[in-house]
This record gives sequence, C-alpha cells and structure tokens, in this order.
Amino acid sequence: MPGPVIRFRRSSLHLVTIEVHDDETILETARRAGLNVPSNCTSGTCGTCMMRLVSGCVSGLTPLPPGLDDDLVAEGAILTCIGRVEESSEIDVIPPL
Ligand code: FES
Repeated sequence: MPGPVIRFRRSSLHLVTIEVHDDETILETARRAGLNVPSNCTSGTCGTCMMRLVSGCVSGLTPLPPGLDDDLVAEGAILTCIGRVEESSEIDVIPPL
C-alpha cells in the first residue's frame, strides 16, 4: 500500500508532491524532494525549519517543543525537523510569522 504523500506549496503555488518514506521527518522529505529548506538545531528549539500545515495531520509536536507556542500552533505552525505526517498532508513552506 502506498504511503502518505506531502503536497508542498509556497503560498498558492504548488511546488512538489512526494510520497513519504517510513519514519522520515517532514524536513527529510522536503530535502529529498529537492526543496532548499533552512534548518539549524534539528531538535525543535530554534524555529528555523518552521512551515505551515494547510491540511492533514502531523505528529511529534507534543509536548509543545521550545520552538513553538500556542499562538503559532493556532496558525498552523509545524516544526519540520521533528514533525512527521500521519496521513497525506498539504504544507506551505512559508511559516505563519
Ligand atoms: S531546525 Fe530548529 S526547530 Fe527545526
């Protein structure tokens, strides 16, 4: 059975749709798709890798990591270095800042 896919977009522009490998972080998937995604701590602290979840479901972000707060989460913010999709999802590479 095929795994979930991530549809990456930049605002309203579709960038790429890619199937997710087992246990791959969103950051790893994005890089495999050829997207140039900045990261720093890769541990959920700095917020550098933040994107916005448009639709779908992401795990790995509870308890709330230091790089997120409730307001950001309410706007759909996810940290891609520690987050993993649980189902096919659509993600905007522009964070909600
Ligand atoms: S790279 Fe620092 S929070 Fe993801």
